[in-house]
Amino acid sequence: MSGGGQFSGLPGQSGSGAPEMPPLLRPPVAPTSPGDDHRVSDPIPFPTSLSDEQPPTADQPAAPTEQASSTEHLVDVRPDAELGPTGRPMPDLPEPRPVTTHGNARVISMCNQKGGVGKTTTTINLGASLAEYGRKVLLVDFDPQGSLSVGLGLNPHEMDLSIYNLLMERDVDYEDVVVPTGVPGMDLLPSNIDLSAAEVQLVHEVAREQTLQRILAPALEKYDVILIDCQPSLGLLTVNALTASDGVIVPLECEYFALRGVALLKTTIDKVQERLNPKLEIDGVLGTMFDGRTLHSREVMERLVHAWGDKVFHTVIRRTIKFSDSTVAGEPITTYASSSAGADSYRQLAKEVLARVETGEPARG
Ligand SMILES: Nc1ncnc2c1ncn2[C@@H]1O[C@H](COP(=O)(O)OP(=O)(O)O)[C@@H](O)[C@H]1O
Ligand SMILES: [Mg+2]
Repeated sequence: MSGGGQFSGLPGQSGSGAPEMPPLLRPPVAPTSPGDDHRVSDPIPFPTSLSDEQPPTADQPAAPTEQASSTEHLVDVRPDAELGPTGRPMPDLPEPRPVTTHGNARVISMCNQKGGVGKTTTTINLGASLAEYGRKVLLVDFDPQGSLSVGLGLNPHEMDLSIYNLLMERDVDYEDVVVPTGVPGMDLLPSNIDLSAAEVQLVHEVAREQTLQRILAPALEKYDVILIDCQPSLGLLTVNALTASDGVIVPLECEYFALRGVALLKTTIDKVQERLNPKLEIDGVLGTMFDGRTLHSREVMERLVHAWGDKVFHTVIRRTIKFSDSTVAGEPITTYASSSAGADSYRQLAKEVLARVETGEPARG
């Protein structure tokens, strides 16, 4: 059995020579010039030095941003601050405040319909870092591939109950399914291939988009952060994740083709926000697999900042083999290689996330 068609991968991604040019994010087109062909006015020349690839054209939807608005007020930027890897001055991220009580969890989905961009890696390691800062964390494996569960050392064939049971069986409670992880303060709702059936079965449910929201509701009072690892598609499971969430983090690989499909992702987020979940916001866009030695990575980063403004995290995750090694070991990099640069990056991301979502925000609810 090939297993093909299990995921609703995007058409045209079948890897055959990719005749089209990658769609690149564009800045918002100035409203004063609606008829303009905005490819002419692109202020960032993409490198023609990129091997033999042609400079991209811009026949794609405009930039997924209208929010170049600032989240910078949440963190201090010294006037003499050094430029960070995103090309912007690196702010001083505040030390997370200690917490003594838990609850009123913020639910955050890791979302990108492209596979292999670091969603699962970010879920595990951001979760583990938040737990190091004393937050009670629940990870939700919402991908039938179950990589998050495997990455935390679970055997997919040996699960008594998984999130599938929670979604489909009324008498199963989240506390029946949740398992502790090796990281103190971090729990997991595991998943395995059974979850792929849920996507089909949910279609017939009443309030099918709200199913995950309903089953997570009792967990909100116990945790500070709930991170949902989405599958690589924009299907019903992902819509459920977005409907259950307060925020979305979009991990993007710092690669030439990384920006393909991001406009579609933004459209999906907007639709869920309009129709199902008005409180949903983008908590941040995270550059992953960054290689600061290459002009290429830096240019992709520059484009990200250009398109998404301050939504782009100052923290970037560099490419390192230690992430794969830690997956094999079934633990986060923060414990597998605690003093590595990769572990530090995710700790820094945790600080940045907390600075964005905890600073000065009125209690949600
Ligand atoms: N920063 C990184 N550097 C190198 N390898 C990485 C990095 N982040 C993730 N990986 C590896 O890339 C692969 C895909 O990452 P993963 O987090 O599973 O992506 P996704 O969940 O988006 O499909 C995994 O083998 C993972 O170990
Ligand atoms: Mg994954």
